Amino acid sequence: MRILLLGSGGRENALAWKLAQSPRCEALFIAPGNAGTTRFGTNLDISLTDFEGIRKACMDEKIDMVIVGPEEPLVKGVTDFLISSKSLAELDVIGPGKAGAQLEGSKAFAKAFMMRHNIPTAAYREFTLDNYTEGVEYLRNHTLPIVLKADGLAAGKGVVIAENHIEAIAEFELMIQRAKFGEAGKKVVVEQFLKGIEISVFVLTDGKNYVILPEAKDYKRVGEGDTGPNTGGMGAVSPVPFVNKELMQKIEEKVIRPTVEGLRHEGLEYRGFIFFGFMIVDNEPYMIEYNCRMGDPETEVVIPRLKNDLVDLLDAVATQQLDKVTIETDPRTACTVVAVSGGYPGDYAKGYEINGIESINTEDSLLFHMGTGLKGGKVVTSGGRVFCITSYGRSIFDAVEISKEEMQKVTFTDMNYRQDIGFEFE
Ligand code: AMP
Ligand code: GLY
Repeated sequence: MRILLLGSGGRENALAWKLAQSPRCEALFIAPGNAGTTRFGTNLDISLTDFEGIRKACMDEKIDMVIVGPEEPLVKGVTDFLISSKSLAELDVIGPGKAGAQLEGSKAFAKAFMMRHNIPTAAYREFTLDNYTEGVEYLRNHTLPIVLKADGLAAGKGVVIAENHIEAIAEFELMIQRAKFGEAGKKVVVEQFLKGIEISVFVLTDGKNYVILPEAKDYKRVGEGDTGPNTGGMGAVSPVPFVNKELMQKIEEKVIRPTVEGLRHEGLEYRGFIFFGFMIVDNEPYMIEYNCRMGDPETEVVIPRLKNDLVDLLDAVATQQLDKVTIETDPRTACTVVAVSGGYPGDYAKGYEINGIESINTEDSLLFHMGTGLKGGKVVTSGGRVFCITSYGRSIFDAVEISKEEMQKVTFTDMNYRQDIGFEFE
Protein backbone atom coordinates (compact mmCIF):
# COMPACT_ATOMS: atom_id res chain seq x y z
CA MET A 1 0.00 0.00 0.00
CA ARG A 2 1.19 3.53 -0.84
CA ILE A 3 0.37 5.87 2.04
CA LEU A 4 0.27 9.64 2.50
CA LEU A 5 0.22 10.86 6.11
CA LEU A 6 -0.81 14.48 6.72
CA GLY A 7 0.73 16.44 9.59
CA SER A 8 4.05 17.51 11.08
CA GLY A 9 4.07 16.80 14.81
CA GLY A 10 5.10 14.12 17.27
CA ARG A 11 1.83 12.31 16.55
CA GLU A 12 2.77 12.00 12.89
CA ASN A 13 6.32 10.93 13.77
CA ALA A 14 4.91 8.12 15.95
CA LEU A 15 2.40 7.09 13.27
CA ALA A 16 5.13 7.12 10.58
CA TRP A 17 7.38 4.98 12.80
CA LYS A 18 4.59 2.44 13.22
CA LEU A 19 3.40 2.46 9.59
CA ALA A 20 6.94 1.90 8.29
CA GLN A 21 7.15 -1.33 10.32
CA SER A 22 4.34 -2.91 8.31
CA PRO A 23 5.33 -5.26 5.48
CA ARG A 24 2.26 -3.90 3.69
CA CYS A 25 3.64 -0.34 3.65
CA GLU A 26 5.11 -0.13 0.16
CA ALA A 27 5.78 3.62 0.22
CA LEU A 28 5.21 6.31 2.84
CA PHE A 29 4.95 10.05 2.24
CA ILE A 30 4.45 12.66 4.93
CA ALA A 31 3.13 16.15 4.20
CA PRO A 32 4.67 18.34 5.40
CA GLY A 33 6.38 16.13 8.03
CA ASN A 34 9.35 17.12 10.21
CA ALA A 35 13.03 16.22 10.46
CA GLY A 36 12.14 12.92 12.17
CA THR A 37 9.63 11.64 9.63
CA THR A 38 12.32 11.57 6.93
CA ARG A 39 13.64 8.41 8.63
CA PHE A 40 10.46 6.55 7.70
CA GLY A 41 9.37 8.07 4.40
CA THR A 42 9.56 11.01 2.04
CA ASN A 43 8.47 14.46 3.20
CA LEU A 44 6.38 16.47 0.74
CA ASP A 45 6.37 20.23 1.13
CA ILE A 46 2.59 20.76 0.99
CA SER A 47 0.51 22.84 3.34
CA LEU A 48 -2.27 21.01 5.21
CA THR A 49 -4.89 23.36 3.83
CA ASP A 50 -3.70 23.13 0.22
CA PHE A 51 -6.28 20.51 -0.74
CA GLU A 52 -5.51 20.80 -4.44
CA GLY A 53 -1.81 20.21 -3.70
CA ILE A 54 -2.70 17.16 -1.63
CA ARG A 55 -4.91 15.82 -4.42
CA LYS A 56 -2.11 16.28 -6.93
CA ALA A 57 0.37 14.47 -4.64
CA CYS A 58 -2.08 11.56 -4.38
CA MET A 59 -2.17 11.34 -8.17
CA ASP A 60 1.57 11.77 -8.72
CA GLU A 61 2.57 9.25 -6.05
CA LYS A 62 -0.29 6.80 -6.79
CA ILE A 63 -1.47 6.95 -3.19
CA ASP A 64 -3.88 4.26 -1.94
CA MET A 65 -4.55 5.67 1.51
CA VAL A 66 -4.42 9.13 3.11
CA ILE A 67 -4.22 9.33 6.91
CA VAL A 68 -5.11 12.73 8.32
CA GLY A 69 -3.26 13.55 11.55
CA PRO A 70 -4.47 16.98 12.74
CA GLU A 71 -7.93 18.51 13.08
CA GLU A 72 -7.68 21.58 10.88
CA PRO A 73 -7.81 19.88 7.46
CA LEU A 74 -10.53 17.51 8.74
CA VAL A 75 -12.76 20.32 10.00
CA LYS A 76 -12.16 22.16 6.71
CA GLY A 77 -13.31 19.13 4.74
CA VAL A 78 -10.16 17.49 3.31
CA THR A 79 -11.79 14.04 3.43
CA ASP A 80 -14.87 15.07 1.42
CA PHE A 81 -12.64 16.93 -1.04
CA LEU A 82 -10.39 13.93 -1.72
CA ILE A 83 -13.16 11.32 -1.78
CA SER A 84 -15.31 13.29 -4.21
CA SER A 85 -12.36 13.86 -6.53
CA LYS A 86 -13.07 11.91 -9.74
CA SER A 87 -9.39 11.30 -10.36
CA LEU A 88 -9.06 9.48 -7.01
CA ALA A 89 -11.85 6.93 -7.21
CA GLU A 90 -9.92 4.18 -5.36
CA LEU A 91 -8.51 6.35 -2.58
CA ASP A 92 -9.23 5.56 1.08
CA VAL A 93 -9.08 8.37 3.61
CA ILE A 94 -8.69 7.79 7.35
CA GLY A 95 -10.42 10.71 9.06
CA PRO A 96 -14.05 11.86 9.07
CA GLY A 97 -15.72 14.16 6.57
CA LYS A 98 -16.56 17.73 7.47
CA ALA A 99 -19.90 16.76 9.06
CA GLY A 100 -18.38 14.15 11.41
CA ALA A 101 -15.42 16.41 12.22
CA GLN A 102 -17.94 18.84 13.75
CA LEU A 103 -17.58 16.71 16.88
CA GLU A 104 -14.37 18.68 17.35
CA GLY A 105 -15.02 21.67 15.07
CA SER A 106 -18.02 22.90 17.05
CA LYS A 107 -18.34 22.61 20.84
CA ALA A 108 -22.06 23.49 20.51
CA PHE A 109 -22.56 20.68 17.97
CA ALA A 110 -20.72 18.22 20.24
CA LYS A 111 -22.78 19.17 23.31
CA ALA A 112 -26.07 18.91 21.39
CA PHE A 113 -24.95 15.52 20.01
CA MET A 114 -24.20 14.28 23.56
CA MET A 115 -27.65 15.45 24.69
CA ARG A 116 -29.40 13.73 21.77
CA HIS A 117 -27.68 10.45 22.62
CA ASN A 118 -27.88 10.65 26.38
CA ILE A 119 -24.11 10.75 26.85
CA PRO A 120 -23.05 11.92 30.33
CA THR A 121 -21.50 15.40 30.23
CA ALA A 122 -21.49 18.68 32.16
CA ALA A 123 -24.71 20.76 32.08
CA TYR A 124 -24.43 23.71 29.68
CA ARG A 125 -26.02 26.63 27.85
CA GLU A 126 -25.14 28.16 24.51
CA PHE A 127 -24.94 31.92 23.83
CA THR A 128 -24.37 34.23 20.84
CA LEU A 129 -24.85 37.94 20.19
CA ASP A 130 -28.60 37.28 19.97
CA ASN A 131 -28.97 36.25 23.61
CA TYR A 132 -25.92 38.11 24.94
CA THR A 133 -27.72 39.97 27.75
CA GLU A 134 -29.34 36.78 28.93
CA GLY A 135 -25.85 35.21 28.90
CA VAL A 136 -24.41 37.91 31.17
CA GLU A 137 -27.29 37.38 33.60
CA TYR A 138 -26.77 33.61 33.44
CA LEU A 139 -23.06 34.03 34.25
CA ARG A 140 -23.84 36.34 37.19
CA ASN A 141 -25.84 33.57 38.85
CA HIS A 142 -23.56 30.68 37.88
CA THR A 143 -21.68 28.68 40.53
CA LEU A 144 -17.87 29.08 40.45
CA PRO A 145 -15.64 28.29 38.70
CA ILE A 146 -17.29 28.79 35.30
CA VAL A 147 -16.12 27.06 32.14
CA LEU A 148 -16.43 29.10 28.90
CA LYS A 149 -15.72 27.48 25.55
CA ALA A 150 -15.45 29.22 22.19
CA ASP A 151 -17.47 27.19 19.72
CA GLY A 152 -14.95 26.74 16.88
CA LEU A 153 -11.34 25.58 16.63
CA ALA A 154 -9.02 27.86 18.60
CA ALA A 155 -5.71 25.96 18.49
CA GLY A 156 -6.34 24.54 21.97
CA LYS A 157 -6.80 28.00 23.51
CA GLY A 158 -10.59 28.36 23.33
CA VAL A 159 -11.40 27.16 26.86
CA VAL A 160 -11.35 29.57 29.78
CA ILE A 161 -11.97 28.50 33.37
CA ALA A 162 -13.01 31.66 35.21
CA GLU A 163 -12.54 31.73 38.99
CA ASN A 164 -14.90 34.68 39.55
CA HIS A 165 -17.91 36.32 37.91
CA ILE A 166 -16.09 39.47 36.76
CA GLU A 167 -13.49 37.42 34.89
CA ALA A 168 -16.20 35.21 33.36
CA ILE A 169 -18.22 38.16 32.09
CA ALA A 170 -15.11 39.94 30.75
CA GLU A 171 -14.07 36.79 28.87
CA PHE A 172 -17.61 36.31 27.57
CA GLU A 173 -17.58 39.87 26.20
CA LEU A 174 -14.17 39.35 24.57
CA MET A 175 -15.37 36.18 22.84
CA ILE A 176 -18.76 37.39 21.64
CA GLN A 177 -18.42 41.18 21.21
CA ARG A 178 -14.77 41.31 20.19
CA ALA A 179 -14.40 37.98 18.43
CA LYS A 180 -11.33 37.02 20.51
CA PHE A 181 -11.33 33.59 18.85
CA GLY A 182 -12.58 34.76 15.47
CA GLU A 183 -16.03 34.35 13.95
CA ALA A 184 -16.43 30.73 15.07
CA GLY A 185 -15.76 31.78 18.68
CA LYS A 186 -18.66 34.25 18.72
CA LYS A 187 -20.80 31.38 19.87
CA VAL A 188 -19.94 30.38 23.45
CA VAL A 189 -20.75 27.27 25.45
CA VAL A 190 -21.00 27.96 29.19
CA GLU A 191 -20.52 24.78 31.13
CA GLN A 192 -20.63 23.41 34.67
CA PHE A 193 -17.15 22.82 36.12
CA LEU A 194 -16.35 19.17 36.77
CA LYS A 195 -13.80 18.23 39.41
CA GLY A 196 -12.09 14.91 38.82
CA ILE A 197 -9.25 13.23 36.95
CA GLU A 198 -8.91 13.66 33.20
CA ILE A 199 -8.14 10.74 30.91
CA SER A 200 -8.15 10.25 27.15
CA VAL A 201 -9.60 7.21 25.40
CA PHE A 202 -9.01 6.51 21.72
CA VAL A 203 -11.27 4.64 19.37
CA LEU A 204 -10.93 3.65 15.75
CA THR A 205 -14.24 3.30 13.94
CA ASP A 206 -15.20 2.23 10.44
CA GLY A 207 -18.65 3.78 10.84
CA LYS A 208 -20.24 0.47 11.88
CA ASN A 209 -17.77 -1.19 14.23
CA TYR A 210 -15.14 0.17 16.57
CA VAL A 211 -12.06 -0.93 18.51
CA ILE A 212 -10.73 0.68 21.67
CA LEU A 213 -7.02 1.55 21.80
CA PRO A 214 -4.98 1.88 25.04
CA GLU A 215 -6.05 4.84 27.20
CA ALA A 216 -3.68 7.64 28.21
CA LYS A 217 -3.32 10.70 30.38
CA ASP A 218 -1.55 13.82 29.21
CA TYR A 219 0.06 16.61 31.20
CA LYS A 220 -0.99 19.99 29.83
CA ARG A 221 0.52 22.49 32.26
CA VAL A 222 4.03 23.73 31.59
CA GLY A 223 5.19 23.58 35.23
CA GLU A 224 5.99 20.88 37.76
CA GLY A 225 3.01 19.67 39.79
CA ASP A 226 0.58 20.79 37.05
CA THR A 227 1.17 24.52 37.51
CA GLY A 228 1.52 27.42 35.09
CA PRO A 229 -0.10 27.97 31.70
CA ASN A 230 -1.57 25.30 29.46
CA THR A 231 0.52 23.87 26.64
CA GLY A 232 -0.10 21.41 23.82
CA GLY A 233 1.12 18.71 26.23
CA MET A 234 4.33 18.20 28.22
CA GLY A 235 4.11 14.44 28.56
CA ALA A 236 1.80 11.45 28.67
CA VAL A 237 1.42 8.05 30.29
CA SER A 238 -0.33 4.83 29.25
CA PRO A 239 -1.94 2.82 30.78
CA VAL A 240 -3.56 5.03 33.44
CA PRO A 241 -3.26 3.11 36.74
CA PHE A 242 -6.79 3.64 38.13
CA VAL A 243 -8.58 2.77 34.87
CA ASN A 244 -9.84 -0.75 35.52
CA LYS A 245 -12.16 -3.07 33.62
CA GLU A 246 -15.25 -1.80 35.40
CA LEU A 247 -14.57 1.85 34.50
CA MET A 248 -13.71 0.94 30.88
CA GLN A 249 -17.00 -0.94 30.65
CA LYS A 250 -18.92 2.13 31.82
CA ILE A 251 -17.00 4.26 29.33
CA GLU A 252 -17.84 1.90 26.51
CA GLU A 253 -21.51 1.46 27.38
CA LYS A 254 -22.35 5.03 28.34
CA VAL A 255 -20.20 6.91 25.85
CA ILE A 256 -18.35 5.02 23.12
CA ARG A 257 -21.16 2.82 21.83
CA PRO A 258 -23.81 5.60 21.88
CA THR A 259 -21.35 7.87 20.05
CA VAL A 260 -20.61 5.44 17.22
CA GLU A 261 -24.29 4.46 16.93
CA GLY A 262 -25.34 8.11 17.12
CA LEU A 263 -23.03 9.02 14.25
CA ARG A 264 -24.46 6.22 12.15
CA HIS A 265 -28.09 7.04 12.93
CA GLU A 266 -27.52 10.66 12.05
CA GLY A 267 -25.93 9.69 8.74
CA LEU A 268 -22.54 11.12 9.69
CA GLU A 269 -20.10 8.94 7.77
CA TYR A 270 -17.08 8.44 10.04
CA ARG A 271 -14.01 6.36 9.31
CA GLY A 272 -11.15 7.29 11.56
CA PHE A 273 -9.99 8.02 15.09
CA ILE A 274 -12.22 9.47 17.80
CA PHE A 275 -10.51 10.95 20.85
CA PHE A 276 -12.75 10.97 23.92
CA GLY A 277 -11.65 13.42 26.61
CA PHE A 278 -13.13 12.39 29.97
CA MET A 279 -13.36 13.77 33.45
CA ILE A 280 -13.71 10.85 35.84
CA VAL A 281 -15.79 12.01 38.82
CA ASP A 282 -16.35 9.47 41.63
CA ASN A 283 -15.54 6.64 39.24
CA GLU A 284 -18.13 7.87 36.70
CA PRO A 285 -17.11 9.05 33.22
CA TYR A 286 -18.23 12.50 31.99
CA MET A 287 -17.42 13.62 28.48
CA ILE A 288 -15.47 16.86 28.27
CA GLU A 289 -14.67 16.90 24.60
CA TYR A 290 -14.44 14.97 21.38
CA ASN A 291 -11.54 15.31 18.99
CA CYS A 292 -11.77 13.91 15.48
CA ARG A 293 -8.16 12.67 15.51
CA MET A 294 -5.53 11.14 17.78
CA GLY A 295 -4.07 13.21 20.62
CA ASP A 296 -0.58 14.64 20.77
CA PRO A 297 1.46 13.66 22.87
CA GLU A 298 -0.89 10.74 23.72
CA THR A 299 -0.19 9.08 20.35
CA GLU A 300 3.46 8.85 21.34
CA VAL A 301 2.52 6.47 24.20
CA VAL A 302 -0.57 4.79 22.70
CA ILE A 303 0.98 3.75 19.37
CA PRO A 304 4.14 2.26 20.96
CA ARG A 305 1.85 0.03 23.06
CA LEU A 306 -0.15 -1.15 20.05
CA LYS A 307 1.03 -4.55 18.83
CA ASN A 308 -1.25 -4.83 15.78
CA ASP A 309 0.04 -3.97 12.33
CA LEU A 310 -1.23 -0.42 11.80
CA VAL A 311 -1.69 -0.82 8.04
CA ASP A 312 -3.88 -3.90 8.65
CA LEU A 313 -5.87 -1.96 11.21
CA LEU A 314 -6.43 1.08 8.99
CA ASP A 315 -7.26 -1.13 6.02
CA ALA A 316 -9.97 -2.75 8.18
CA VAL A 317 -11.32 0.76 8.85
CA ALA A 318 -11.40 1.57 5.14
CA THR A 319 -13.14 -1.70 4.22
CA GLN A 320 -15.47 -1.63 7.28
CA GLN A 321 -14.11 -4.88 8.68
CA LEU A 322 -13.08 -3.76 12.14
CA ASP A 323 -15.36 -6.45 13.59
CA LYS A 324 -12.70 -8.96 12.51
CA VAL A 325 -9.92 -7.20 14.42
CA THR A 326 -8.71 -7.76 17.99
CA ILE A 327 -6.50 -5.10 19.53
CA GLU A 328 -3.30 -6.46 21.06
CA THR A 329 -1.56 -4.32 23.61
CA ASP A 330 1.98 -4.32 25.02
CA PRO A 331 1.52 -4.87 28.77
CA ARG A 332 4.42 -2.57 29.60
CA THR A 333 3.87 1.03 30.67
CA ALA A 334 4.88 3.70 28.17
CA CYS A 335 5.61 7.28 29.22
CA THR A 336 6.73 10.22 27.18
CA VAL A 337 8.51 13.39 28.28
CA VAL A 338 8.38 16.40 25.95
CA ALA A 339 11.32 18.78 25.47
CA VAL A 340 10.12 22.32 24.73
CA SER A 341 11.70 25.60 23.68
CA GLY A 342 12.56 28.07 26.48
CA GLY A 343 9.66 30.49 26.90
CA TYR A 344 7.00 28.13 25.50
CA PRO A 345 3.97 28.36 25.64
CA GLY A 346 4.76 32.09 25.43
CA ASP A 347 7.22 33.55 22.90
CA TYR A 348 10.26 31.47 22.07
CA ALA A 349 13.13 31.43 19.58
CA LYS A 350 13.52 28.88 16.77
CA GLY A 351 16.39 27.56 14.68
CA TYR A 352 18.62 26.22 17.47
CA GLU A 353 20.69 23.19 16.57
CA ILE A 354 19.73 19.98 18.38
CA ASN A 355 22.63 17.74 19.40
CA GLY A 356 22.80 14.17 20.64
CA ILE A 357 19.72 12.65 19.01
CA GLU A 358 21.80 9.75 17.70
CA SER A 359 23.13 8.87 21.17
CA ILE A 360 19.74 7.78 22.56
CA ASN A 361 19.70 4.18 23.78
CA THR A 362 16.94 2.70 21.65
CA GLU A 363 16.57 -0.49 23.66
CA ASP A 364 13.77 0.88 25.85
CA SER A 365 13.34 4.37 24.41
CA LEU A 366 12.09 6.07 21.27
CA LEU A 367 12.74 9.68 20.30
CA PHE A 368 9.95 11.29 18.30
CA HIS A 369 10.49 14.65 16.60
CA MET A 370 7.78 17.27 17.10
CA GLY A 371 8.75 20.82 16.09
CA THR A 372 12.00 20.13 14.23
CA GLY A 373 13.33 21.02 10.80
CA LEU A 374 16.46 20.59 8.74
CA LYS A 375 18.81 23.50 8.10
CA GLY A 376 22.03 22.93 6.18
CA GLY A 377 21.84 19.20 6.94
CA LYS A 378 21.45 19.85 10.69
CA VAL A 379 18.37 19.18 12.83
CA VAL A 380 17.09 22.45 14.33
CA THR A 381 14.19 23.54 16.54
CA SER A 382 11.18 24.86 14.65
CA GLY A 383 8.37 24.87 17.20
CA GLY A 384 7.41 25.11 20.87
CA ARG A 385 7.30 21.40 21.51
CA VAL A 386 10.52 20.14 19.93
CA PHE A 387 10.79 16.40 20.54
CA CYS A 388 9.74 13.78 23.05
CA ILE A 389 11.31 10.65 24.44
CA THR A 390 8.98 7.71 25.07
CA SER A 391 10.24 4.85 27.22
CA TYR A 392 8.84 1.50 28.20
CA GLY A 393 9.02 0.44 31.83
CA ARG A 394 7.56 -1.77 34.53
CA SER A 395 5.84 1.24 36.07
CA ILE A 396 5.26 4.92 35.32
CA PHE A 397 8.11 5.87 37.63
CA ASP A 398 10.44 3.43 35.92
CA ALA A 399 9.55 4.56 32.37
CA VAL A 400 9.79 8.26 33.23
CA GLU A 401 13.18 7.74 34.88
CA ILE A 402 14.47 6.09 31.70
CA SER A 403 13.15 8.93 29.53
CA LYS A 404 14.75 11.54 31.81
CA GLU A 405 18.07 9.74 31.68
CA GLU A 406 17.99 9.67 27.87
CA MET A 407 16.82 13.30 27.81
CA GLN A 408 20.17 14.36 29.28
CA LYS A 409 21.96 13.17 26.13
CA VAL A 410 20.08 15.58 23.87
CA THR A 411 20.60 19.34 24.02
CA PHE A 412 19.57 22.60 22.43
CA THR A 413 19.72 26.19 23.73
CA ASP A 414 17.15 26.92 26.48
CA MET A 415 15.66 23.42 26.37
CA ASN A 416 13.06 22.73 29.05
CA TYR A 417 11.13 19.65 30.16
CA ARG A 418 9.05 18.49 33.11
CA GLN A 419 10.74 16.20 35.62
CA ASP A 420 7.52 14.96 37.18
CA ILE A 421 5.36 13.37 34.47
CA GLY A 422 3.07 10.85 36.19
CA PHE A 423 3.81 12.38 39.61
CA GLU A 424 0.34 11.68 41.09
CA PHE A 425 0.75 7.94 40.52
CA GLU A 426 4.05 7.52 42.39
P1 AMP B 1 -11.11 21.18 25.90
O1 AMP B 1 -10.51 22.10 24.86
O2 AMP B 1 -12.59 21.03 25.80
O3 AMP B 1 -10.33 19.92 26.03
O4 AMP B 1 -10.82 21.88 27.30
C1 AMP B 1 -9.50 22.14 27.71
C2 AMP B 1 -9.32 21.75 29.13
O5 AMP B 1 -10.20 22.50 29.96
C3 AMP B 1 -9.68 20.31 29.42
O6 AMP B 1 -8.63 19.45 29.10
C4 AMP B 1 -9.96 20.38 30.90
O7 AMP B 1 -8.77 20.37 31.64
C5 AMP B 1 -10.62 21.72 31.05
N1 AMP B 1 -12.09 21.59 31.04
C6 AMP B 1 -12.89 21.62 29.95
N2 AMP B 1 -14.17 21.49 30.31
C7 AMP B 1 -14.20 21.35 31.65
C8 AMP B 1 -15.22 21.17 32.62
N3 AMP B 1 -16.51 21.12 32.28
N4 AMP B 1 -14.87 21.07 33.90
C9 AMP B 1 -13.56 21.14 34.28
N5 AMP B 1 -12.55 21.31 33.42
C10 AMP B 1 -12.85 21.43 32.12
N1 GLY C 1 -3.22 16.24 24.02
C1 GLY C 1 -4.46 16.83 23.73
C2 GLY C 1 -4.75 16.98 22.30
O1 GLY C 1 -4.14 16.39 21.44
O2 GLY C 1 -5.68 17.71 21.99
